[in-house]
Amino acid sequence: MSRAAKIALVTGASSGIGAATARRLARDPGTELVLVARRDERLAELAASLPCPATWLAADLTRPEAPELVRAHLEQRHDRLDLLVNNAGAAWRGTFGETGWENVHRHMELNFDAVVRLTEALLPLLRRSAPSAIVNVASTAGRVSRANSGAYSASKFALIGWTDALSLEEAPHGVHVGMVLPGFVPTEGFPQTELRAKAVTRLILSSPEKVAEAIHEVGPGRKSERYVPRPYALAAYLRLLAPRLTRRVLAAGGPPSGSRSSS
Ligand SMILES: NC(=O)c1ccc[n+]([C@@H]2O[C@H](COP(=O)([O-])OP(=O)(O)OC[C@H]3O[C@@H](n4cnc5c(N)ncnc54)[C@H](OP(=O)(O)O)[C@@H]3O)[C@@H](O)[C@H]2O)c1
Repeated sequence: MSRAAKIALVTGASSGIGAATARRLARDPGTELVLVARRDERLAELAASLPCPATWLAADLTRPEAPELVRAHLEQRHDRLDLLVNNAGAAWRGTFGETGWENVHRHMELNFDAVVRLTEALLPLLRRSAPSAIVNVASTAGRVSRANSGAYSASKFALIGWTDALSLEEAPHGVHVGMVLPGFVPTEGFPQTELRAKAVTRLILSSPEKVAEAIHEVGPGRKSERYVPRPYALAAYLRLLAPRLTRRVLAAGGPPSGSRSSS
């Protein structure tokens, strides 16, 4: 490791937005990456393909021991952390009536608790490395809820609320905290099957590379938040300013069905 190296850790780097983020960050001179997800071979393959030094750790972030494993990996190899991208996440569709608390718990465990626990373990290192940054990958579903994805939305609403407070608390310590709110992005876990099927709905899809660019703007670029695509911010404003109209629009359009997950 060179003295000037900037260490960035990306969770959920084995596919989709996380892999695109790793590729984007790797283009910055002096960056060294740490990649985290469960699939070891995927991470090894990505690390070998990057134009910068990269190590990886295969870990299930919902396991109790995961945060300590990640911290030990970082401390042994770098003893610093300039950027933490909390990106790993998933969605399992279903109404509350069908899937109940179990599905809410499953979402909270990965999309909220695992993020909070990893951040807690790495915060001392981030503070020691300040100026440093955290980017939490939330979702427009963390501003506007749709039928069949209430559990996912609950986890992302929680993540957004917690991120806002953390950004105020950590600013005096030199740790910038921001978030990215993607809309619909076709990836392995979020295939967006129905939206991809029609020319008109394909227009609202974004790409992992665009989200990765936004993560770069919020992390190294120190922005507080970015919707991807930007006009999705309008959905959040509409929900706040006209809740009844928003419900009517969502009820009329109905949720996209047939896809494994929501945005
Ligand atoms: N795609 C969209 O439309 C969309 C929209 C809004 C927000 N988002 C958010 O963007 C983030 C990335 O999603 P994506 O679209 O890139 O989906 P993806 O391609 O399915 O990637 C999800 C990543 O999370 C990792 N992961 C899942 N469970 C894990 C666990 N228990 N421990 C460690 N890693 C785990 C997966 O790797 P392994 O399977 O190898 O563990 C994978 O690398 C998520 O937080 C998602 O909520 C996505």
